[in-house]
Amino acid sequence: MGCYADAPVILRGRDMASCGYLDDAYVVIDGGVVEAFGPMSGYKMQESGNYVIDASERYVMPAFCDSHTHIVYAGSREGEYEDRIAGMSYAQIAERGGGILNSADRLHASTENELYRSAMRRVREMMRGGTGAVEIKSGYGLTLEDEMKMLRVATRIKEDAVIAVKRTFLGAHAFPRAFVSDRDGYVRLIVEEMIPAVASEKLADYIDVFCDEGFFTVEQTRRILERGLEYGLTPKIHANELAASGGVQVGVECGALSVDHLEHVGPAECEALRGSGTMATLLPGAAFFLGMEYAPARRMIDEGLAVALASDYNPGSSPSGSMKFVLSLASIKMRMTPVEAFNAATVNGAYAMGLSDTHGTITPGKRANVIITRPMPSFAYLSYQYTEDLIERVIFN
Ligand code: NIG
Ligand code: FE
Repeated sequence: MGCYADAPVILRGRDMASCGYLDDAYVVIDGGVVEAFGPMSGYKMQESGNYVIDASERYVMPAFCDSHTHIVYAGSREGEYEDRIAGMSYAQIAERGGGILNSADRLHASTENELYRSAMRRVREMMRGGTGAVEIKSGYGLTLEDEMKMLRVATRIKEDAVIAVKRTFLGAHAFPRAFVSDRDGYVRLIVEEMIPAVASEKLADYIDVFCDEGFFTVEQTRRILERGLEYGLTPKIHANELAASGGVQVGVECGALSVDHLEHVGPAECEALRGSGTMATLLPGAAFFLGMEYAPARRMIDEGLAVALASDYNPGSSPSGSMKFVLSLASIKMRMTPVEAFNAATVNGAYAMGLSDTHGTITPGKRANVIITRPMPSFAYLSYQYTEDLIERVIFN
């Protein structure tokens, strides 16, 4: 699956239905990269002898590119999960000072080493689940010091992890308590102090804003993104999760690499995305966990748009980094075919994190990040059998 001599950078609309599939094939890996692939009939054992893994009856595919996560966090939020079971909504919990602010309090009380250890545990668990590249956001700091602390942890992970890591500055994730009645004051802090500091220490690759009802307005989002761009940070934003916020349009206007969530999108948002270089990244794990509406993936793909899938792994709205389960949700809840979901989590996920040159497909010269499944009767079986561990082996580099 996902084998191309000449890999696509982005798959849109109908093109998402095919996937570079070869039956009875080989892949040669050398020095951390894919050297060659082809039909088994053309395979020649090298003189020195190769280390051979027999993948008969199995599927071999590129590792997942999880382009949206919040895996640096302290503690967990199952208390709020119980509150929601009792009838409160995610928005109500946030209004009473829980949610992201709850995680910010816990993060403030944690050391860099503690955060590093717990986040690395999550990275290892995700790798075991087939993830070969991960984007990590800040956003539970909400002060200059704590945002920098989070990004330093993400930077250490980037240095130490075997898989590729991208870091995103999300100071504009929520308004901290000190600024509840001076929201523009917090935006000024982000624009005047946080962005320059993050950029001068080279702690981030991207900039994000939670542009949604009750969070950052379109105007505030634009100010923050424009400032980020001045400092070389490309936008990748949270948009239209809670309402048709205008986030998609402002993201596209600011040249965002991706706009993420998109549970609330209609014709105007699709029109804005069409022909742009902005990926629509859908996070069905959050809709599942919060019991909210799913993004209209079927309609978006039928209209010719490109869609990526990511886990949104975080303690409040998606406490799971399982990309296999994300594929199942995409098919069961959003009517994406198994192959469309696969493409969304590999080729299009790589695009949404700026890794198209090295990740997302099995292509000579790209990183040898490969999943080998257990024996399966068909590719659809992978997401159909939605809780079974069907990933037998992962190879990174
Ligand atoms: O992507 N929507 C905003 N941010 C996160 C949730 C963060 C949290 O609740 O801790 C998300 O769903
Ligand atoms: Fe998120």
